[in-house]
Amino acid sequence: MNKITVVGAGNVGATLAQRLAEKELAREVLLVDVLDGIPQGKGLDEWQSGPIEGFDTRVTGTTSYDAAAGSEIFVVTAGIARKPGMSRDDLVKTNAAIVKSVSQELKRVAPKAIVIVVSNPLDVMCWVAKEVTGFPRERVMGMAGVLDTARYRTFLAEALKVSVEDIQAMVLGGHGDTMVPLISYTTVSGIPITQLMEQATLDAILTRTRNGGAEIVSFLKTGSAYYAPSAAAVQMVEAIVKDKGRILPCAAWLEGEYGMKGVFLGVPCKLGAKGVEQIIEVELTSAERAALAKSAEAVRETMKAATL
Ligand SMILES: NC(=O)c1ccc[n+]([C@@H]2O[C@H](COP(=O)([O-])OP(=O)(O)OC[C@H]3O[C@@H](n4cnc5c(N)ncnc54)[C@H](O)[C@@H]3O)[C@@H](O)[C@H]2O)c1
Repeated sequence: MNKITVVGAGNVGATLAQRLAEKELAREVLLVDVLDGIPQGKGLDEWQSGPIEGFDTRVTGTTSYDAAAGSEIFVVTAGIARKPGMSRDDLVKTNAAIVKSVSQELKRVAPKAIVIVVSNPLDVMCWVAKEVTGFPRERVMGMAGVLDTARYRTFLAEALKVSVEDIQAMVLGGHGDTMVPLISYTTVSGIPITQLMEQATLDAILTRTRNGGAEIVSFLKTGSAYYAPSAAAVQMVEAIVKDKGRILPCAAWLEGEYGMKGVFLGVPCKLGAKGVEQIIEVELTSAERAALAKSAEAVRETMKAATL
């Protein structure tokens, strides 16, 4: 891949750019931000770690989208982060205006790009990006499920004292309090989780997963998580760059899948060179189906607050 542009050179964006470079997922990684000096300085600093880390990816930074022309992938992290006590939905108006302006610019300079949205409230920001760019649903997706699933897997591995690598799981639904962890699809090297763990332990882990973002905000006080979020977005980029056909939970635009349409929601997606190449419909229990519908309702409510 020639060029990947990361919009927003804050905590998530800058960490993401460094991870992309270390994995050499493109010849060039470009950081774009409105704060003059920040993307340039961070880009230069990251590029200079190349000889030590052993990568040849050129990292640069700018405030102008012209340098992003022809980027194959955009990762959008621009926006303000959640502050303590602030819900993701409180962010909607400010971040919708930011994601709108970013989407207009990226459409202008890279009309064929694939867009991965990270800015919160995630599912609504995906909708803003899709509406403003007019890109097909294959090329606009959101990162949330990979992160939520990673948090869930971390806590499960700790409780079971097994490797995180042996935990397979899916967390669907909107990014936020209404996320839907699929217990029936949570396994440890193929063994159903319910055979290995008491329901009470599992319930406590599910609650901690739901509050995963807030737990970190309460520690940091002046910002939100960025190491795991940037790693999660890079996993999606890698699946696309390497055309891996990975099945990952991503926010995707539904057109009838799971009985819903006209909303972005976390669902299992096949990610490859074309972006979201397939949305996979798995069998759900009636409780999971109801939880997913409730999650979609919460996303629709938040969409009302965003003006395009
Ligand atoms: N989807 C997820 O799971 C997830 C996880 C973590 C963070 N987030 C979200 O990602 C976003 C970024 O988080 P962060 O911790 O990096 O915040 P941050 O404040 O560190 O960085 C945000 C950056 O965006 C820049 N920015 C603002 N307006 C811009 C514009 N119009 N164009 C370009 N850049 C602009 C800011 O100058 C800043 O550098 C937030 O909305 C946060 O809530 C989402």
